[in-house]
Amino acid sequence: MAGDHFLLAGVMGCPVMHSRSPILHNYLFRQHGLTGTYVPLAIPPEHLEGALRGLAPLGFSGCNITIPHKERALAIVDHVDEVAKRIGATSCVVVRQDGSLGGTNNDAFGFVQNVLQQQPAWRAGAGPAVVIGAGGGARAVIYSLAECDAREIRVINRTSARAGTLAKEFGGPVSGVAWEDRHRALKDAAMLVNTTSQGMVGQPPLDLALDTLPTTALVCDIVYIPVETPLLAAARRRGNPTVDGLGMLLHQVRPAWKAWFGIDPQVTPELRAVVEATIPAIGH
Ligand SMILES: NC(=O)c1ccc[n+]([C@@H]2O[C@H](COP(=O)([O-])OP(=O)(O)OC[C@H]3O[C@@H](n4cnc5c(N)ncnc54)[C@H](OP(=O)(O)O)[C@@H]3O)[C@@H](O)[C@H]2O)c1
Repeated sequence: MAGDHFLLAGVMGCPVMHSRSPILHNYLFRQHGLTGTYVPLAIPPEHLEGALRGLAPLGFSGCNITIPHKERALAIVDHVDEVAKRIGATSCVVVRQDGSLGGTNNDAFGFVQNVLQQQPAWRAGAGPAVVIGAGGGARAVIYSLAECDAREIRVINRTSARAGTLAKEFGGPVSGVAWEDRHRALKDAAMLVNTTSQGMVGQPPLDLALDTLPTTALVCDIVYIPVETPLLAAARRRGNPTVDGLGMLLHQVRPAWKAWFGIDPQVTPELRAVVEATIPAIGH
């Protein structure tokens, strides 16, 4: 619970200075009139365990976990909740009252809440969903779509074997589609989600032709630097509804703050504007 002491939280990653989380969380400290700070923690893999074990003695309420620590952290924390276990990665660590560490994953929550905020009529069961990518972000998206009763989820990844592994692991509505068939696989899709790093600043656009995608299909990107990726720009130009990835990051503050400080912050347009102002747009 937030009390009269200095509140501490942060994000562990390597690299970590690109993260917009400090801007986001420090805005919330100010907005809620709380004394505290949220710091970027540049932790190389060999120091992850020591850094996590240092959270409790240093008085941290917890931390977020980003690239490349999400899977390793799962094996270090003392308690792993069901969501993190199913996704196979942790995005958030909570220091419990007894000093032990709990691991959870708020990526899936952030993804769904963001889609619903930007497209309130969206239903996962409306038709086939195509997920491009098979990394940590893809796992959270696939988990959340399956939890929302999607009936068919096609996973497509450059390294096709990884898509097959995810299909086997999640089972049910999830199937793997070969990378070479990615353009055709969009034919009757109701939703397309990019979870690869393609389209991110410094990376080329995702190599995907949208010609066969119905113009009614919802196109989402979880990349949020830039906010409008080349994929989203191309989708918007042909009339598809789109959802950008920034809100996925924003909505994750809600379960994190609830667990760390006992507060449920709101994801307001002002909060989004504060973070968005720090992200450069890229011409398409
Ligand atoms: N908005 C949010 O809150 C949020 C949350 C999580 C992640 N993200 C973003 O999502 C992106 C991916 O993150 P992650 O954690 O899932 O990364 P990751 O685990 O490293 O996975 C990267 C994915 O990108 C694919 N990829 C890489 N280079 C490619 C290329 N040249 N062509 C096609 N596919 C390629 C990889 O395919 P291979 O398997 O073939 O290598 C893999 O599927 C990052 O931009 C990250 O910032 C955003």
